[in-house]
Amino acid sequence: MIPLCVPEIRGNEWKYVKDCIDTNWVSSVGSYVNLFEEKFSKFVKSECAVVTMNGTAALHLALLTLGIGEGDEVIVPSLTFISPVNTIRYVGATPVFADVCRDTFVLDADKIEDLITEKTRAIMPVHIYGHPADMDKIMEIARKHNLYVIEDATEALGSEYKGQMTGTIGDIGCFSFNGNKLITTGAGGMLVTNNKEWGERAKFLSTQTKVVTENKAFYHPEIGYNFRMPNLLAAFGVAQLENIEEYIKAKRENAEYYNKLLKNVKGITLPCEKPYAKNCFWLYSILVEDDYEINRDDLVKKMSEKGVETRPFFMPIHNMPPYKDFKHGNMNVTDELYRKGINLPSSVGLKKEDIEYICEIICRR
Ligand SMILES: Cc1ncc(COP(=O)(O)O)c(C=O)c1O
Repeated sequence: MIPLCVPEIRGNEWKYVKDCIDTNWVSSVGSYVNLFEEKFSKFVKSECAVVTMNGTAALHLALLTLGIGEGDEVIVPSLTFISPVNTIRYVGATPVFADVCRDTFVLDADKIEDLITEKTRAIMPVHIYGHPADMDKIMEIARKHNLYVIEDATEALGSEYKGQMTGTIGDIGCFSFNGNKLITTGAGGMLVTNNKEWGERAKFLSTQTKVVTENKAFYHPEIGYNFRMPNLLAAFGVAQLENIEEYIKAKRENAEYYNKLLKNVKGITLPCEKPYAKNCFWLYSILVEDDYEINRDDLVKKMSEKGVETRPFFMPIHNMPPYKDFKHGNMNVTDELYRKGINLPSSVGLKKEDIEYICEIICRR
């Protein structure tokens, strides 16, 4: 089976994890935790980075840090993995679903303003499958209406918007190090911000608001959370980060080769890269149009029969039981993309022959 997207472990992972075990620093404090935060913020060029136990916790923490809660509305796409939407509910706020762009699959800035009410506090663009949303337009709307922007960059580590790393353009950005992501720590996440006050606040909230008093007792001035990442996993992350440039290069080369082999296939729409963007192509994604001989679901089935793991696009969240009664705009593009979209194998270690084999199945139908 050619898997959809598996981790690439080729560096100092064993060495650094062994170091944690040898020194007994395996838990939630330790030098690798600090090192991972430092090296990550240097890589994305953000002022602050706060490591968390997963990407969902980073998004939850972002909302808590900005004080978003009961009675507030947050505008979010429906074409996304469910995490960002769930975190809006975790803090008691209400998601309001907006449609996405057909070519980039991400939040359509032109569909946001109609959904803004006096309750709106934030916009949460999700750079799905790697392509960045049009951040200038989103930031302009946010500033005009006094809203925060939380970037869900969990799928877009290594992507850039006008030369700036995704996740560092809004007020807060969040990343994931789940096993299928560009770099992994098994499970993990990171919150980044250029606002030092928010960075400190996020760290404080994520570590149980713990204050160590003069006599070494713990004092907690407010309710906090344990979103910490263990040193063991941070050590793994430091090693992964050492190879990140190679991983991004490999993903982009995968995409280039797919594009070359699929460009003349009738009924297949290739993923785009807007002039403003550098797409990390986290998951190489195509659309199976109506004039392709079989439909998307049949292609998923056919691929599976031939030993290729694929995934249909995210099922729209606004139709799911916990969210079907929430407000949303027109969802034509979201619904269409769900019907037509498919992610193809995209691992860093994917071989050229694998791509040739996959494209041959698509070309032959
Ligand atoms: C768009 C998106 N947001 C958030 C997450 C949550 O990250 P995690 O699984 O690390 O909690 C994921 C993926 O896993 C994701 O794809």
